[in-house]
Amino acid sequence: MRWDEDPEIIALGKKVFEGETYEDLFCAGCHGKDGAFLINGARDLRTSQSVSRNHDRLLKDWTDADWFKSVSLGVPPSPMMAWLDEYPPKAIWLAIAYAKQFHKKPENQKLPPPEELEPVHDLW
Ligand code: HEC
Repeated sequence: MRWDEDPEIIALGKKVFEGETYEDLFCAGCHGKDGAFLINGARDLRTSQSVSRNHDRLLKDWTDADWFKSVSLGVPPSPMMAWLDEYPPKAIWLAIAYAKQFHKKPENQKLPPPEELEPVHDLW
């Protein structure tokens, strides 16, 4: 079994993603508990067509390294912070394990493509 398909890892990842492990590391506060973004510009984690500002692949093709880069470095100065500056790598990996699940769900297979990215400086 892949590390990110292990139900125990995913359950721990849910706690990180939903801000239970670290109050201020609250991915769901912006990306939504179901991966549907709540704040303007936050990446839609439900659709396999989402893009990254840190590399050229679509979400469906993001490697573990791509995910780690995206969540560690974030997109300063947008609200997506460089989380690795403040939190341990383990927390980043757990959040990723959970974040990777949304676009695999059956109900998320026929979503329209995400909106075009806005300039980072318009996001605040
Ligand atoms: C304060 C709100 C906020 C929080 C908390 C937050 N994000 Fe984001 N996230 C955003 C916004 C806004 C963007 C889009 C930034 C942009 O492209 O300008 C984003 C982008 C991303 C991206 C795409 C980055 C890229 O490479 O372009 C990923 C993946 C992501 N978030 C995952 C997470 C995870 C996992 C967490 C928790 C560890 C998290 N986010 C916490 C707001 C947030």
